[in-house]
Amino acid sequence: MNENIEKIKLHVRDLRAAIELHNYRYYALDNPSIPDAEYDKLFRELQQIEQDYPQLITADSPTQRIGVPPLKAFSHVTHRVPMLSLGNAFDKAEVEAFDRRVCEGLSVDRVEYVVEPKFDGLAVSLCYENGVFITGATRGDGNTGEDITLNLKTIKSIPLSLPVKNPPSLLEVRGEVLMLKADFLALNQRQLAKGEKEFANPRNAAAGSLRQLDPAITATRRLTFFAYGVGRYEDAPIPQDTHNNVLKYLATLHFPIAKECQVVKGLQALLNYYQAISAQRDQLPYAIDGVVYKVNSLLQQKKLGFVSRAPRYAIAHKFPAQEAVTQLLDIDVQVGRTGALTPVARLKPVIVGGVTVTNATLHNADEIERKDMRIGDTIIVRRAGDVIPEVVSVMVEKRPVDTRIFAMPTHCPACSAKVVRLPDEAVFRCTGGLFCPAQRKRAILHFVSRRAMNIDGLGDKLVDQLVNHGIVRTPADLYKLGLAALVNLERIANKSANNLLQAIEKSKQTTLARFIYALGIRNVGEATAKDLANYLGSLDRLIEAHSEYLQQIPDIGPVVAQSIVEFFAEKHNCEVIEQLRACGVRWNEHEGKSVLTNASASLIGKTFVLTGTLSTMSREEAKEKIESLGAKVSGSISKKTDYVIVGAGPGSKYDKALSLGIPVLDEAGLLELLQ
Ligand code: IVH
Repeated sequence: MNENIEKIKLHVRDLRAAIELHNYRYYALDNPSIPDAEYDKLFRELQQIEQDYPQLITADSPTQRIGVPPLKAFSHVTHRVPMLSLGNAFDKAEVEAFDRRVCEGLSVDRVEYVVEPKFDGLAVSLCYENGVFITGATRGDGNTGEDITLNLKTIKSIPLSLPVKNPPSLLEVRGEVLMLKADFLALNQRQLAKGEKEFANPRNAAAGSLRQLDPAITATRRLTFFAYGVGRYEDAPIPQDTHNNVLKYLATLHFPIAKECQVVKGLQALLNYYQAISAQRDQLPYAIDGVVYKVNSLLQQKKLGFVSRAPRYAIAHKFPAQEAVTQLLDIDVQVGRTGALTPVARLKPVIVGGVTVTNATLHNADEIERKDMRIGDTIIVRRAGDVIPEVVSVMVEKRPVDTRIFAMPTHCPACSAKVVRLPDEAVFRCTGGLFCPAQRKRAILHFVSRRAMNIDGLGDKLVDQLVNHGIVRTPADLYKLGLAALVNLERIANKSANNLLQAIEKSKQTTLARFIYALGIRNVGEATAKDLANYLGSLDRLIEAHSEYLQQIPDIGPVVAQSIVEFFAEKHNCEVIEQLRACGVRWNEHEGKSVLTNASASLIGKTFVLTGTLSTMSREEAKEKIESLGAKVSGSISKKTDYVIVGAGPGSKYDKALSLGIPVLDEAGLLELLQ
């Protein structure tokens, strides 16, 4: 037996190394050596072994990148070496002045520099202890940042452990987390399909994703990391001669380094690099807002030192904001899933930083008023952070006499229902609900989206046709679709129509959480939908719930509760739900298990930790059961743990539980509690 487990241990070690190597090849080098399916196979094999032998799970296992419970708040981390910022240069003269200061400071004529892209993302510091990734933090104020370790672990280009035999006892790696342009565009498409807010640019998307308290959400957002330096280190063979060698050393540890980094000599080479990168900017896979020049010799860096919070040996040469002058031709109004009306500027086409711009976001009516924008005005448009353009300002001095003042419509442009503005809201809303075709389209796209009912093959264009032809009015109508109705539409072949019908059929068997999320109740995202399903256990209980009752659920406040109550008070919504059930949409309910009905004796909000192997159920099953009673399952023990469940062959968690005096239950004890 022992020999067997030793063998499995070795196999697990090899599997992990192989998976991390493939992650490195795929995410850092962009050069995978095996097909995705092979990779998935390795990953599933590791998952299976870890499920069978939970005592073999380690914090740096690739399976641990995902699947940890959400946090309540981020804690703070003090940086061992402060994270500084860079001085800026905006033109040639400022770069010349920088190079002059450097040459004078070193008493030399010409200096060797490393030139790098200036990533437009978020600075982070990654701390490795004995080769294992332990904590990762944001820059914060430079001295203290937020602990975002769990979110950073979901980024596959960040090594969980350093691929060397004798890792340094301490190594802090500094770099930037960003979202590649392609991943950003795909994310916004998904947001649009879900009727959720699009991100203005990759930087905002990366920031929003890193700031999630639930790492499961971060894991769905593909983020990337590039290293550009080190912080504190101990017992690490860090090159002591040049910055370029430090970068090379980091590359041997499998940290991604931008391909565009170079070593150059003298002022002219800096300016040439700036020109070359400016020309490539739109083709680069990531957004940048300039380039960075750093003195290459570490000895020279030390000699030059710092002024206040920035090094004298480095500077950022920033690109000018990408702006252009054009004319505001009109302002259209778009209707979102929840009926929010958003004004969109239609512009006379203009090239901004190499891209033709015809639309710009205007956010809301207040902004139009604040900027005193009139239709026909000459305006300045900016492509901030590379993507959705925005109107910066109006050139009032160029205003023609015949401009028109924009007014939000009093009736919805899509359905003519009344438009209202709630007293404390910036947005105007259409009151047409699901009778409004624009809202209906968005609601249906949300209903079928992957994390909701997951119906593949129903894109924008098809939904447009189905709604415009009056074939689909509510999500329930999807389940009444037949082949005849579909093949009469434009651009849909028999085969894809059949595939779609199959996908619709398959979606009937779903989960309560998915179904609640799919309904598109305002303020009820995926996480809230899961909580509602777990705590209430049945849809009817949700439909009948009043606001105070709902607010007993952790994280549900008066606003969310109110949205839920209002949704079910709408007779039409209840009818659609009835039709969906009649069409065969179903899920498993935990009838009679509402944890809120006997709140006093319940497990709501309690935290469990599992260790060892259970005999009557898998760890996943135990987790599901515990969560269905409103408790949480955590991967690690702290003072806040309420129960530790110990199966056969427990790990060190058992000892820790005893030392912290946390109640320990065996499997029988757990079953009793779950009764
Ligand atoms: S070096 C001591 N290199 O710019 C200097 N920073 O203004 C440490 N940044 O907070 C920073 N690309 O977020 C460095 N290649 C690069 C960079 C870079 C982007 C950001 C970083 C930092 C800010 C400094």
